Amino acid sequence: MFQDLSKAIGIIFTLLLMIVLVIFGTAFYVSTQSQTTAPIQEVAVVSKPAVELTDVQKQGKELFNTNCASCHKRYKKATGPALHGVTERRDKEWLYKWIKNSSALIASGDPTAVKLYNEWNQSNMNAFPQLSNEQIDAILAYVEIPK
Ligand code: HEC
Repeated sequence: MFQDLSKAIGIIFTLLLMIVLVIFGTAFYVSTQSQTTAPIQEVAVVSKPAVELTDVQKQGKELFNTNCASCHKRYKKATGPALHGVTERRDKEWLYKWIKNSSALIASGDPTAVKLYNEWNQSNMNAFPQLSNEQIDAILAYVEIPK
């Protein structure tokens, strides 16, 4: 009688232990699953949206690539200075004159133009008399896009 009772208690304890193990096992499995899937979801959300150019900036990009890119880069020196930030260094009217015909501006004795020309070892920039002020504005809008 007494032996039967302790046997029954032993069986009940074993069953309880198994139930507890199954519950913890399941809980552990679920927690590892959610840990591995969470970072993947974050990566998908964080992905950077592509920068959309405005129509003017697109026009400026084309003009820049066909006329200026052989000597200028936007963010680095090349044959000529980096053009990003040029609208802060120079006045708009000065930029129109310079880009349309830099040698004429230098020849006129404009101090900024003469200084710049000498700083760049008197290398010559092409003249672009065919560009309108609007087209020059578009080029400048493109070069001033933040890096
Ligand atoms: C053949 C090479 C060449 C081409 C093409 C060229 N540039 Fe230049 N650019 C230069 C050089 C070199 C200078 C530095 C001044 C100098 O030596 O004349 C310069 C200077 C400038 C400056 C003055 C920068 C400052 O710091 O003030 C501007 C603005 C400029 N260029 C814009 C343009 C634009 C816009 C185009 C295209 C429409 C263009 N350049 C095409 C060579 C070039």
